[in-house]
Amino acid sequence: MIRHTLLLSLIIVLFSCSNQTVRYTIGVSQCSEDVWRDKQNQELLTASYFYDGVQLKFANADDNERRQSEQIDSLVAEGIDLLIVSPVSVGKVSEAINRAYDKGVKIVLVDRSTTASKHHTFIHVDNYKVGAMLGKYVADSLKGKGRIAELKGMKGSTPAMMRHQGFNDALAKYPGIEIVSTQYTTWKEESGKAAMKELLNKYDHFDCVFGHNDRIALGAVKAYKETKKRKDDPIFVGIDALAGKDNGLDCVARGFFDATAIYPTEGYEVMQIALDILEGRQYKKSYILESALVTASNADLMLMQADEMASQQARLQLLHKRVDRYVADYNHQQVYLVLTILIMVLVLVSFALILRSIMLKRHLAEKAANEKLNFFTQVGHEFRTPLTLVAAPLDRVLESKTITHEERSLLEMMQRNINILLRLTNDMLEFRKREEKDINKGIKKVFENIEYVEMPSLSAKDSEQAGAVMTFTRSDNETRDVLLIVDDNEDIRQYLATIFGDDYNVLVANNGKEGLEMAMKSNPTVIISDIMMPEMDGIEFCRRIKEDENLCHIPVLLLTAKAMDHQREEGYAVGADGYLTKPFNSKVLQQRVMNLIRNRRLLRDTFVAESAKEIKTTATAIADITKDDVTKEQIASADIDFANKFRNIVLENMANSDFNVEYIGEQIGLSRVQLYRKVKALTGYSPVELVRITRLKKAERLLNTTNKTIAEVAYEVGFSSQSYFTRCFKEYFGRTPSAK
Ligand code: FRU
Repeated sequence: MIRHTLLLSLIIVLFSCSNQTVRYTIGVSQCSEDVWRDKQNQELLTASYFYDGVQLKFANADDNERRQSEQIDSLVAEGIDLLIVSPVSVGKVSEAINRAYDKGVKIVLVDRSTTASKHHTFIHVDNYKVGAMLGKYVADSLKGKGRIAELKGMKGSTPAMMRHQGFNDALAKYPGIEIVSTQYTTWKEESGKAAMKELLNKYDHFDCVFGHNDRIALGAVKAYKETKKRKDDPIFVGIDALAGKDNGLDCVARGFFDATAIYPTEGYEVMQIALDILEGRQYKKSYILESALVTASNADLMLMQADEMASQQARLQLLHKRVDRYVADYNHQQVYLVLTILIMVLVLVSFALILRSIMLKRHLAEKAANEKLNFFTQVGHEFRTPLTLVAAPLDRVLESKTITHEERSLLEMMQRNINILLRLTNDMLEFRKREEKDINKGIKKVFENIEYVEMPSLSAKDSEQAGAVMTFTRSDNETRDVLLIVDDNEDIRQYLATIFGDDYNVLVANNGKEGLEMAMKSNPTVIISDIMMPEMDGIEFCRRIKEDENLCHIPVLLLTAKAMDHQREEGYAVGADGYLTKPFNSKVLQQRVMNLIRNRRLLRDTFVAESAKEIKTTATAIADITKDDVTKEQIASADIDFANKFRNIVLENMANSDFNVEYIGEQIGLSRVQLYRKVKALTGYSPVELVRITRLKKAERLLNTTNKTIAEVAYEVGFSSQSYFTRCFKEYFGRTPSAK
């Protein structure tokens, strides 16, 4: 489609470049072809160069009326705007001219006219006057006495009629002058010569021969020259007075003619008038051109002028040819330019199309590759859990001393192959991770600082932890921390319970929904949760825990087969405190759970640290944890700062029993609610509880190290009632203040 449009515009542009706009087409219908007509045509052509967009079409009728009529009709049919016409005769041509006029063609008659023809203007010489002027000249030359032969132009043509009339009228005044004979010719030299020869046969003597044009007169001269026995030596006169060899001026200058009359062609003026008509300017119905007599006295001068004119004309034509060539060159260059631009556009468009299809292909290929990778990643994840669950018990069985040697080697073979499978699965997921990292460098940066846990395959040592079977049902030890495991996979639940059963009171839930209910009921110390589960997934579960004011302080460790960075990001976004991928190393998992609990405690200790020693112990423990060890959870320094600030405010204001939580909020720059949420999330205690603990801890030290009474101590640490102090003390330390 695009290519077709381009091709079409190319053709249009080329066409418009190679064609200059034609504004006017002018037809020139000449009655005949001779030097006079040639000169006029040449002048018309040269004059047309002065106007933009004027095109000329020439036709020559060879003195044939019918032919001229046909030529006019066909010029009109070709679509001319104006017709310059010099009719052969007054007869038939008129009808063709009238037809053209009726079709809206502007008509300019030149030199000759017709009867009743429709026209816009008639540009001509007054032929009667020319005839009369020559009659007078001849009468004067012959001194009013002599015999004259008149060789007329073509029968039926207006100049022949008018010249004859003028000549005769002028000579009528001279009774001594007789026009002995009048002959028609065809305006041509040959026909003049033939007519003269005829007359010479008939008549003895002529004093003057008047040819209606110079060609006829020259024919007569030649007829005389060829008729040797003649003694008479007439004067010859003609009309036209053109320059050039054997033309009128030359004949006068060489003494062949006595005189001739200027019969101007005036092609320039004719063209000017034609344009006036075409362009709607004013013009006259008739223009009369001037004539003049040429004799031996002015012929040389006239020749010089004519030569000058001719060379001017030649120069003009040369100039025009050059301009024409430049214009043609310019047009060609324009065509080349347009062509070049179009080719460039075509190349660019093709290039863009090719590029687009390459990009499209690449995009599709990338998509396909991505889908493949996703598939493998999914499969990889699915493999990990069962492999973990086979590997760990296997390790455990291998530890047994009771198995036979043969059984051991078989089991070891199994262990090796499971490890290979685990490694392959990990490699596959690692590859996927690398791919993803390359694509999402930006995202990668965000998580650069987030701890990343490499999961080594399970070793025999790890599986020691899996030894204790189902100890999680043991709920007798109330002082132990409570661990809530939320996972939809029965095996994983059991395995985790095995790992943690020795040290924690383990609770299990099948999904997030159950987990949430259980967390509300039993307020666990720490939670381990899977992500992909029915009913409520781990992400939603974690979000709910972190949004609940009573639960938000519980550390949540997400344990999942989802190892992608964006999945990890999602987990942290909902407030998870840790993120571990399957298959996991049981030791690492235990360590991390421990760290999470310790961190809470350390942070809480920081809030309520009372003695310098205690602060030091806490700070060291924190420093130890924040060392660059990926298996340890880190406490944000901002949280430590916050805890210290809180603690200092409490210590400074302890004696003041009016001192309250609002005051701490004001000092720290938090509202009461904000302070409550933050402190609760970090320690699991409310600010009021923390203040109370700090007071009680100081009270305990005072009781141990001073002799102050209980009432004094209670008062010093900000309790206004001793009985209330005693109750709180007992609640916190499990003994009364008086007991040692
Ligand atoms: C040219 C011509 C001239 C003459 C004129 C009269 O065709 O024969 O020689 O003066 O026509 O129309």
